[in-house]
Amino acid sequence: MIGRLNHVAIAVRDIAKAAAVYRDTLGAEISATVKQPDHGVSTVFITLPNTKIELLEPLGADSPISKFLDRNPDGGVHHVCYEVADIRKARDTLKAQGARVLGDGEPKIGAHGKPVLFLHPKDFLGTLVELEQA
Ligand code: CO
Repeated sequence: MIGRLNHVAIAVRDIAKAAAVYRDTLGAEISATVKQPDHGVSTVFITLPNTKIELLEPLGADSPISKFLDRNPDGGVHHVCYEVADIRKARDTLKAQGARVLGDGEPKIGAHGKPVLFLHPKDFLGTLVELEQA
C-alpha cells in the first residue's frame, strides 16, 4: 500500500537555527521559511536526493506541535510521510484493520497542496504517520 517516503518531519523550537544546521553543518539545500497558518506551523523543506526533511516550528498559540515540544524540549522526529496512490482507499483499508485516523478522517490539503491524513501513533509503533496522495 505505502509507496515512497515523501518526507521525515522534525519539530524544532527555532527554525532558523535548525535550518542552519542542515545548510551549514550538513551541506544540504534548504527552502525559504514558509508560514502555514492553516496548519499552525512554519516550515523549511530540505531536499535530499531520495526524500525531503521538513522542519516544523510552532506558529500561533495552539500549534499542533506545541505539546510535542513540551514533551521533547530539544525537538525531535515528529512524523514520517508515506505516499499512497489513493488516499481514501488507503484510509478505508487501514480503518478496516483497526487503525485510527486522526481528526474527522477526511483528507485535508497538506503543506504540499496534496490531500493528507494522519494515523494514530499508537497503531504505528509509536510514530505519527502521515499519508499523502502521490
Ligand atoms: Co508532513
